[in-house]
Amino acid sequence: MKTYKIAVIAGDGIGPEVIDAGIEVLKKAAALDSTFQFQFTYFPWGCEFYTKHGKMMDENGIDQLKEFDAIYLGAVGFPGVPDHISLWDLLLRIRKEFDQYVNIRPVRLLKGAKTSLMDVKREDINMLFIRENSEGEYSGAGEWLFKGRENEVVMQNSVFSRKGTERIIRYAFETAKNQKRSLTSISKANALNYSMVFWDQVFEEVSAEYPEVETSSYLVDAAAMLMIKDPKRFEVVVTSNLFGDILTDLGAAIAGGIGLAAGANINPERNYPSMFEPIHGSAPDIAGKGIANPLAAIWSASQMLDFFGYESYGKEVLNAIEELLTEGQVLTPDMGGTASTQEVAERIVEIMDSRI
Ligand code: NAI
Ligand code: MG
Repeated sequence: MKTYKIAVIAGDGIGPEVIDAGIEVLKKAAALDSTFQFQFTYFPWGCEFYTKHGKMMDENGIDQLKEFDAIYLGAVGFPGVPDHISLWDLLLRIRKEFDQYVNIRPVRLLKGAKTSLMDVKREDINMLFIRENSEGEYSGAGEWLFKGRENEVVMQNSVFSRKGTERIIRYAFETAKNQKRSLTSISKANALNYSMVFWDQVFEEVSAEYPEVETSSYLVDAAAMLMIKDPKRFEVVVTSNLFGDILTDLGAAIAGGIGLAAGANINPERNYPSMFEPIHGSAPDIAGKGIANPLAAIWSASQMLDFFGYESYGKEVLNAIEELLTEGQVLTPDMGGTASTQEVAERIVEIMDSRI
């Protein structure tokens, strides 16, 4: 029996609540199959840890995580700790150290999920965002000069290396080719006259290697508009770190809400663990009430199953989410229901049981 070692960083706020739910689902998938199991190891890192120890994770945290097959993360961030610290010292550190340069975020309207758009068919919202996850606008390079003085200056630099740009675009072409879908690149070469001109050029170059993949290219502002007006144009989408961050929140809004949006941070070479997480934050406004929607965390658990090669179980988890949404009986308040996080998790597990 294969054992997958999972590092669990449940984090802050609703993080632990939704991660508990996702773990129930992962355990169920493993229980349905005698060939694999999960072993979960919990790390108490996050903002509470920071208030006690002055750091977001152990000094040798990255070394501790290295030996795991994957990381399952809730959310980090809580009032009292500046967001740039909680984000940079944990989440972004893990993404960078483990070279998780691909961020996969499905923007797909599941059966039974409600969209905020009028006059669209469910099938029209089915995008796969592939966001550059290691450099770009989130390179962390910059300078803060003359702090607090009249001549204060800050610089926040974007970094687009040839290696970094080429590998994400190539990954997107491979995905589009395998899925037999079109690929859209989103950039902004009219205003960003170095970084995005370069991005477009690399997209053109790599495109020549994939004559079978149909391509389009949009400016990011136009893309934001078109995602609302004509979402079916977008199938597989590749874009930079910042643009992908923003557009996938927009995507969440049209595909069932933030409570349903999942993301995977992948190191495709599998030299390091990949990390699976809901894309929402720690939601301090509803934390501790047991009403957080766990479906995003559960969808990311399904992405983990896919990543380990158990696509049939990954699909079963998505089917169970669709069945739960279609029934419409056991939903958390953000989806108009009255159920608790725990009740949603239990219902998903029940549905999986009844289907398999
Ligand atoms: P947020 O995603 O935590 O919350 C935004 C709104 O959506 C809130 O009204 C919240 O109640 C609601 N919401 C979010 N997830 C939900 C769920 N599963 N079920 C029901 N409602 C849900 O974003 P916000 O408020 O901007 O950030 C809160 C904290 O989370 C900050 O400290 C921020 O830095 C952090 N954050 C962490 C992320 C991560 O760890 N990946 C991502 C985004 C934010
Ligand atoms: Mg975000």
